[in-house]
Amino acid sequence: NKGKYMHYMQKEIHEQPESLTTTMRLIRGGACKSKTVLLRGLKDHLKTIRRSRRIVFVGCGTSYNAALASRPIVEELSGVPVTMEVASDLVDRQGPIYREDTAVFVSQSGETADTLQALDYALENGALCVGITNTVGSALARKTHCGVHIKAGCEIGVASTKASNWHFAYTSQIVVMAMLALAVGGDMISNETRREAIIDGLLDLPSKVKAVLKLDEEMKDLAELLISEQSLLVFGRGYNYATALEGALKVKEVALMHSEGILAGEMKHGPQPSNCFSCLSYLFHKHLFCCSKQQSVIQQLQARKGRLIVMCTKGDSASVSVGGSCRVIEVPHVEDCLQPVLNVIPLQLLAYHLTVLRGHNVAQTRNLAKSVTTQ
Ligand code: M6R
Repeated sequence: NKGKYMHYMQKEIHEQPESLTTTMRLIRGGACKSKTVLLRGLKDHLKTIRRSRRIVFVGCGTSYNAALASRPIVEELSGVPVTMEVASDLVDRQGPIYREDTAVFVSQSGETADTLQALDYALENGALCVGITNTVGSALARKTHCGVHIKAGCEIGVASTKASNWHFAYTSQIVVMAMLALAVGGDMISNETRREAIIDGLLDLPSKVKAVLKLDEEMKDLAELLISEQSLLVFGRGYNYATALEGALKVKEVALMHSEGILAGEMKHGPQPSNCFSCLSYLFHKHLFCCSKQQSVIQQLQARKGRLIVMCTKGDSASVSVGGSCRVIEVPHVEDCLQPVLNVIPLQLLAYHLTVLRGHNVAQTRNLAKSVTTQ
């Protein structure tokens, strides 16, 4: 039932405070009291994960992007190096996977053929295989040695926002992987302050997501402005490189507009934003925000003809010299590793409104299936 919403995608974007609360139950109760995270499905394997030579994140599409957003915090808290693999590419290359590795498979559906093939490959090579999926009883959940269920509820829209499918999946997957980082990081004294700040940040997320959802009308206005543009480049760095990739993926797959997520640090190495009509730049992370490199990317974008839209955390816009013509979207501030959860939401809203305004079918997106079970 779509209730007051026109489309399931819209409803699911707006239901993220609830889906995140459900995901967060994993850290409520006893676990929350001591500011620790209890992931029952992993507890017998945590020591092995901590002793791994490396953690390899494997996924496709949105699930890959969510893993990429979580990579820095897993590295920071666990001290274990994390590498990223697109599932199909790992299989194509028969890339090295060792017995000493922990391979973490991220898949909303748990049935994506490429991810399952990569899982078979990692199992053959003797790695500890961990699954992060929303689907209890899925092939991924059955075949991995251990794992975590996202528990974010059922999603009907085709492009992932929440957690049973791709919309909600992205935000809930990041939450689960932050929890994974906390669990693997354990109770090291040196991480105590950081750990507590992340747990507080996690518990605050649903209310902050609600606040971001209030940007709906603003994102609709922006979609009206961008409706006939041919291209949208999304720049991000640090934690928000994944946001740039995921935002661009949403715009491409639902609004059928060319869009690319670009690592802001690569700006000088090829991308030509002057050929594009619109550029979105991300500045969320506090110390990235202050970083002169990020400021110089903005200046370079401004110097070209593209329309520049800057997203930053509340109160920070005053200190960015973006110029009068630049549109600024402000989102609430949260602990850096959780900022991608908030930052992707305006882009989900933008993709949704662009789709509607461009007259595309939100419910039945061209060439888009709920889960990709073929290779
Ligand atoms: O079910 P999975 O998470 O394994 O699906 C992976 C991708 O096929 C999926 O995320 C895809 O990129 C969606 N179109 C994203 O909206």
